[in-house]
Amino acid sequence: MTDPVTPVTFPPAFLWGAATSAYQIEGAVREDGRTPSIWDTFSHTPGKTLGGEHGDIAVDHYHRYREDVALMAELGLTAYRFSVSWSRVQPTGRGPAVQVGLDFYRRLVDELLAKGIKPAVTLYHWDLPQELEDAGGWPERDTAYRFAEYAQIVGEALGDRVENWITLNEPWCSAFLGYASGVHAPGRTDPAASLRAAHHLNLAHGLGTTALRSVMPARNSVAISLNSSVVRPLSESPADLAAVRRIDDLANGVFHGPILKGAYPATLLAATSGLTDWSYVLDGDLRAIHQPLDALGLNYYTPTLVSAAQEQPKGPRTDGHGASDHSPWPAADDVAFHQTPGDRTEMGWTIDPSGLHELIMRYTKEAPGLPLYITENGAAYDDKPDADGRVHDPERIAYLHGHLSAVRRAIADGADVRGYYLWSLLDNFEWAYGYGKRFGAVYVDYATLTRTPKSSAHWYGEAARTGTLPSPSPETT
Ligand code: FCB
Repeated sequence: MTDPVTPVTFPPAFLWGAATSAYQIEGAVREDGRTPSIWDTFSHTPGKTLGGEHGDIAVDHYHRYREDVALMAELGLTAYRFSVSWSRVQPTGRGPAVQVGLDFYRRLVDELLAKGIKPAVTLYHWDLPQELEDAGGWPERDTAYRFAEYAQIVGEALGDRVENWITLNEPWCSAFLGYASGVHAPGRTDPAASLRAAHHLNLAHGLGTTALRSVMPARNSVAISLNSSVVRPLSESPADLAAVRRIDDLANGVFHGPILKGAYPATLLAATSGLTDWSYVLDGDLRAIHQPLDALGLNYYTPTLVSAAQEQPKGPRTDGHGASDHSPWPAADDVAFHQTPGDRTEMGWTIDPSGLHELIMRYTKEAPGLPLYITENGAAYDDKPDADGRVHDPERIAYLHGHLSAVRRAIADGADVRGYYLWSLLDNFEWAYGYGKRFGAVYVDYATLTRTPKSSAHWYGEAARTGTLPSPSPETT
C-alpha cells in the first residue's frame, strides 16, 4: 500500500466526481408525463424492498437539482455522473420523446456547465419503462432496438453539451439480479432468461453506441460501466481455480468478451449449455456489440471469494447483493461463495482497496490504450448527525483514502485512469435495501430532505481542489 506519509497527488486533469442515478434520487415519479419503470412496480410490490420503501420522493432531486449542483460546486467537485430516466423522456419506451422530460436534463446539464462541473450521462441505470418489461423485457431482442432509439433521442438532445457518455450501468445487475436471483426489478427468477437478458443488454450497448455516434459530435466519448468482479480462489487447488474461472466468465467475460473482443468466452458457452443454446445470438450481433469504445467505466466495491462446492450451504443466498433463494449465477451450483476476511462496511462488503488496483491493472492489460474511469466506488455507513447537526464519517474517509490511493498506485504502475466518481453524492434509495444504507458524502434527513455535507464530503472536496489526498486521520477532518 502507499505510504500514508507520502502525499498522494493526482495528475492535474484527473476528474473528481460524484455519481448518482435517476430512480435513486429524483422522486417526482408521476410528474411531467413520466410513467412507471420496473423499479416503480417492483418497489411497490409487497416484500420486494426493505419496509416497502420506494423512490416516489427519494431525495426530491428533480426539484432540488440546483441546490445539489451548488453543493458540488461549493465542495469543489469537477465532474458529476447522473442517469437519465428512460420513462421520463420516452414514457412508453418507444416513439416520440417528451420534451419536458428532456428539458429537465438540459437544465441540469446547463447548471453543471455553468458551475464548471463536467457532466457524464448514463443512459440506463436499471429503470426500464414498465411497458417494455410487459412486452418481455431484456430477454427480448426488441428491447435492445428500443434502447438504441432512446439513446439517439438523448444523444440528439444533449450531445452538443455533454462529452462523456455511458450506455449501461452494470449490466450484470440488470441481467442476473433482475432475471435470475430476482432481488432487483423486475424480480424474475429464470436463469435461462437472465442469459438472454445479458446478450440483449450487450446488443443494446452496441446499437446504442452506434446510435449515439450517429447524432453526436465526434469529440464525445462513449463508454460502458461494468461492475467487473475481482474473483479470488479460496485455495490454489485446481477445483477452486476452476470455480474462479466460472464466476469470472459469468461476472465479467459475458460482458467484456463480446464488448472488448467480439466473442463470448468458449468456457462460458460450454458451462451454460445445459440452460441455453445461445441461439438468440444472431449473425452480425457480435460485430454490432464489438464497437470501439472511447473509455471504460469500472465500478468497484469489494472482491469476491469462491471455491468449488459439492452443494450450496442451506438457507437464502446473499452473495452480497440481497437475499434470495435463487442464485444470481446461472450454471454455478457447484461454486460456493465465501466472506472475504477484513473489516466490512454497513453493506457487509469487505473493505479491500487492493481489489481496485487489481481490477484497474487487469483492464490495463485486457484493453490496452483504453482510458479508464472509476465510475463508482464508495461505502455505506450508519451515519447520524451529532448534537450540533454535523455528520462525522471517519470510516468513509478511510475507505476513500484507501481506494483513491489504490487508484493512484495503478496510475503509477502505468494505468490510464482519468477520473473517479464517488458513489454517491447524496444518501439515497439503495434499491432492495430502501433508505437503510447511506452511501452519500452528503447526509440527507429523509423527514425534511435537508442536505448536510458529511466530513467525508469536505475531505473529498479538499482532494478535488488540491489534487492531493488530505490525511485520513479524524483530527484533520
Ligand atoms: C452499484 C449501483 C449503484 C449503487 C451502488 C451501491 O451496484 O450501480 O446504483 O446501488 O451499487
